[in-house]
Amino acid sequence: MTQKLPNAKSLEILISSADIAARVRTLAANISDKFPEDLMIVSLLRGSFMFTSDLIRAIHNTGNRTAWPQVDFMTLSSYGRGTTSSGTIEVARDLKEDVEGRDVLIVDDILESGRTLAYAYDVIMKRKPRSVKIAVLLEKPGHRKVDINADFVGFVIPDKFVVGYGLDYANYYRELPYIGVVTLD
Ligand code: IMP
Ligand code: MG
Repeated sequence: MTQKLPNAKSLEILISSADIAARVRTLAANISDKFPEDLMIVSLLRGSFMFTSDLIRAIHNTGNRTAWPQVDFMTLSSYGRGTTSSGTIEVARDLKEDVEGRDVLIVDDILESGRTLAYAYDVIMKRKPRSVKIAVLLEKPGHRKVDINADFVGFVIPDKFVVGYGLDYANYYRELPYIGVVTLD
């Protein structure tokens, strides 16, 4: 079957939905061990919406009845479109909740240069949380511009542009239930 792909030449599966689900269960178990209570999840939109929704259900399914997470969303915008993120970041949509005194888990789709997460971390830290940890589904090594690490990492992936499971190319492909690699030209 041939499909016409939006803005790309080819699409290949890198991480299957079954592999994602298994890994998310493990991350959820690790996270609920670390956060016995008062977990405030800060999900960075848009890329982490699918990961966040599976992760919180997996946290529930660990059966750890002391972990009752709350969830809020923040949208950061970085200028410029395309396959590399640019340097300037701002808060385009802020949290509704107050994070002061809370144990915060920032959830993002992918850690690449680290700029996005470093920015989010600083924004949250200024609000005096009790603690801040970071969970990312994917980590692409070799591009780090800022010294920041995630406490929970789903998969370390090769240096390719990936889409699916919330991640986009030009806002396409977020709906894919797997992580795929697109060839752009
Ligand atoms: P960083 O600020 O360079 O760490 O980049 C993080 C952001 O860039 C992520 O939240 C994504 O929105 C985007 N990004 C980086 N690599 C990819 C990719 O391979 N596919 C889709 N988005 C990506
Ligand atoms: Mg993103």
